[in-house]
Amino acid sequence: MCGIIGYIGKAQAVPILLEGLRRLEYRGYDSAGVAILDGGKIETRKRIGRIANLAELIKESPPVGSIGISHTRWATHGGVTDENAHPHADQSGKLFLCHNGVIENYAVLKDQLTKEGHAFVSQTDTEVLAHLIGKHYEAAGGEPSKGRLIEALRAALKQVVGTYGIIMIHRDVPNAIVGARRGSPLVLGIGKGENFFASDVSAIVAHTREAVYLKDYDIAALTPEEFEITSLVGGASGFEVSKVEFSEEDVSKGEYPHYMLKEIYEQPDTIQDAMRGRLSREEATSILGGLEMTNAELRDVERIILTGCGTASHAAMVGEYVIEALAHIPTEVEFASEFRYRNMPLPKDSLVFCISQSGETADTLAALRESQRKGHRTLGVCNNVASTIARESDGGVYMHAGPEIGVAATKSFTSQVTILTLIGLLLGRIRHLGSSEGLRIIDELEAIPDKVKRILEQNSHIKAIADKYCNAQAMMFLGRQFNYPVALEGALKMKEISYIHASGHPSAELKHGVIALISPEVPSVFIAPDDSVFEKNVSNIEEVKARKGPIIAIGTEGSTKLEKVADDTIFIPPCPDFLSPILTAIPLQLLAYHTAVALGCDVDKPRNLAKSVTVE
Ligand code: M6R
Repeated sequence: MCGIIGYIGKAQAVPILLEGLRRLEYRGYDSAGVAILDGGKIETRKRIGRIANLAELIKESPPVGSIGISHTRWATHGGVTDENAHPHADQSGKLFLCHNGVIENYAVLKDQLTKEGHAFVSQTDTEVLAHLIGKHYEAAGGEPSKGRLIEALRAALKQVVGTYGIIMIHRDVPNAIVGARRGSPLVLGIGKGENFFASDVSAIVAHTREAVYLKDYDIAALTPEEFEITSLVGGASGFEVSKVEFSEEDVSKGEYPHYMLKEIYEQPDTIQDAMRGRLSREEATSILGGLEMTNAELRDVERIILTGCGTASHAAMVGEYVIEALAHIPTEVEFASEFRYRNMPLPKDSLVFCISQSGETADTLAALRESQRKGHRTLGVCNNVASTIARESDGGVYMHAGPEIGVAATKSFTSQVTILTLIGLLLGRIRHLGSSEGLRIIDELEAIPDKVKRILEQNSHIKAIADKYCNAQAMMFLGRQFNYPVALEGALKMKEISYIHASGHPSAELKHGVIALISPEVPSVFIAPDDSVFEKNVSNIEEVKARKGPIIAIGTEGSTKLEKVADDTIFIPPCPDFLSPILTAIPLQLLAYHTAVALGCDVDKPRNLAKSVTVE
């Protein structure tokens, strides 16, 4: 949520910052701005809307200078206006700040500062923080210096309740950018004669592959040649220089019109990557060393909790079915946003998995911390290697799916489900599953990437279906058992990018109320592969047909019965019931994608959303 990038070096800052903001735009796109420091003066440009709007404004008179900070906003406090766009200045007008996060006690601080004579031009919490830091800077007196700026920041942050990833510059400190983080990500990029700050490495990977992922309570200061990292309480803070795993190419759209389509098409590889090196034919099981648990410890697990938000929570629901089917361990899914407010009775030997593509989702992070507070072993299933959830969990499994930039999660869903299946296999094999069953599961898992390719070959057929139904008034997504969570995920994809109201339900729940919504203008998407509940699904389809509701069905190749009852059918290759969600999700992603394109929606940046939700 919100993207920030800062540059200090010898090149002109504006092109680097604009390019970085474009890469970060998926984090928020309500407004954007830059502040450039040059020879003791700071120039700012801010504009509501996309980075393209800011670029237009800058073109009229580009600020010159090789030190700058910039921001792309997802509004929390204060509406979407030019005034509320970052960077924000302090009372002196000399200090400029960009912020990602929420200052929870901003109202109290603002009242105090107002009484002291401060005047504010925006409704943001960020401007209050800028004023607070500026106040400490002015009060310290003495010669302007980087050290004085750092101390002012330190003093201000001690008064702040909330989360922040911030970067700032000061007119009188002409050779430094200072940043800090707590709860919101901030990365330091190390270049040659130049250094960077960014919310995530995708913004700077074109310039450097060397990064330091700052920890909570780190304060960092950059000059073109060096950087220093201290802690909020004072003294040096330890750090590690990491090699960024992916390249500039990985964060570009390539030949695809949208990131979402690119990411859908990457799934044969990303599913493969989620399994790579993790399947042992010798032992007929999966090997997940990152869990950091012995078989004896895993055998003692009495209960599993899977938690996450949005798409990750749908993957968790599939995981619940899969783990219970393969390992017979009671498994429960809890929305991460509810977890910490619920006093869930959990046995001592409960294992909690926090599932998050970004590894930065505030609610999932809070669930992780709450679970650890209660003494449960808490593991992460994350894509972003250096993320807070990955770092703070007691172990976990990385998705290795590469950057997911499209706001609608696609490849992360199938990777998460694949990993949860590996977990189910591992836990099953140390309990009751025999080796031949283990080998059969491995065979089936290894066959999945090719089956995904076969589904992707139906892209134009799915596009035609999307074109046919894109003016629907609303859509129903229905599935049972393993595919009930896929129905929820299909509905989420459809509504978040096409703005068509859609809802997901267990097929058999239809007649308990939902069927009232069925009409010729409301198509139903039935996920009905050849599984143990196929016949039941067909009966539910008949019920909808009898009420003149159009039917789009996702079934298994060769299912003539389904073809007869449905208006339009999309086929997946045959697979065991528990693996079908990985396959059935793909046509639903494409259906949502093509519907949104047909309606002229901004697929990669749907309205009101941002990729990584780092506020509660
Ligand atoms: O990064 P996370 O996996 O923690 O994100 C969780 C949700 O915010 C995310 O899946 C969201 O629901 C997507 N926009 C869905 O497409």
